[in-house]
Amino acid sequence: MTENGDRGWPDVRLHVVTGKGGTGKSTVAAALALGLASRGQDVLLCEVEGRQGIAQLFDVSPLPYEERRVAQGPQDGGDLYALAIDPESALLEYLAMYYRLGRAGKALDRFGVVDFATTIAPGVRDVLLTGKVYEAVHRNRRSKGARRYDAVVLDAPPTGRIAQFLNVNGELAGLAKVGPIRHQADTVMTLLRSDLTAVHLVTVLEDMPVQETADGITELRAQGLPVGGVVVNLTRRATLDPDERARALAGRLDEGALAADLDRAGVDTEPGLLTALLDEGREHAERRALEDEQRARVAALGVPTYELPRLADGIDLGALYELAADLCEQGLA
Ligand SMILES: Nc1ncnc2c1ncn2[C@@H]1O[C@H](COP(=O)(O)OP(=O)(O)OP(=O)(O)O)[C@@H](O)[C@H]1O
Ligand SMILES: [Mg+2]
Repeated sequence: MTENGDRGWPDVRLHVVTGKGGTGKSTVAAALALGLASRGQDVLLCEVEGRQGIAQLFDVSPLPYEERRVAQGPQDGGDLYALAIDPESALLEYLAMYYRLGRAGKALDRFGVVDFATTIAPGVRDVLLTGKVYEAVHRNRRSKGARRYDAVVLDAPPTGRIAQFLNVNGELAGLAKVGPIRHQADTVMTLLRSDLTAVHLVTVLEDMPVQETADGITELRAQGLPVGGVVVNLTRRATLDPDERARALAGRLDEGALAADLDRAGVDTEPGLLTALLDEGREHAERRALEDEQRARVAALGVPTYELPRLADGIDLGALYELAADLCEQGLA
């Protein structure tokens, strides 16, 4: 854990949250967004994978292509809005905005053009998704009627695809040498490569996810994309002190003392119970030792790191607030 002071990333307007699948990207993105809201910011939490993960997390009905308020920061906190971005809607919105193709856009949809653009033409999908994220970050006074946010948090594609996803506009710029497409692509890339953006990586303390995090950081840096922090999720609380742990590892926990403790707690020590408990203690100590190895690898990555505990009862709104408070305390939010 780093001492980041009050707020580690005060200038960042776009927080991109990636990580190996299943490590807690969506949970961490939601907690970060809530944390920022509790700092008084108005925040938009976006997802781009068509999974309705945000609606599930906040226990609301599936999100339409429309910004919906899903929560508020505690006390005088800011508002947390959420948006599920899908490429089809983003394309229709884009056409309506730039070519005033309101209804004509819908007609294109009937002819399968929208389908073609968003599922068949490679890369177009990601251009549309990142384009919408850019639009949400860059709203200004001229964006009539649109809500403006202090920060946008993106529940992003996993580490294996993140550099390609964020870089799609760079490739587009390479194809279109001049003109409005080139201009739009350059503008999006400028945001994504700037200090206004931070790409955070979520991991757990296991070999593969930590390796993927290391590789992800290398790739993001190689592409000139700004690496933020590493969030180590699902950590176990330390229940043994270092001394006890060493003894548990060596199989030298004091059986007599354990029996006496159980006796004092009024537990009948049947035969076998003591051995089972001692075995469990050793396994716990072994897991902690393996985790500490991974923790050291994460620390060696040289980026700010944050830790979130594995909450025993799973993730509900209360749990998200708890994780959000944790992230505020550690300075990610
Ligand atoms: N700190 C935590 N404590 C307890 N449960 C957690 C925690 N973080 C995540 N989980 C649980 O782990 C599972 C995976 O989390 P989540 O969906 O956020 O991961 P993800 O990386 O977004 O997954 P995917 O790659 O499928 O999008 C979920 O069931 C979630 O509730
Ligand atoms: Mg997810």
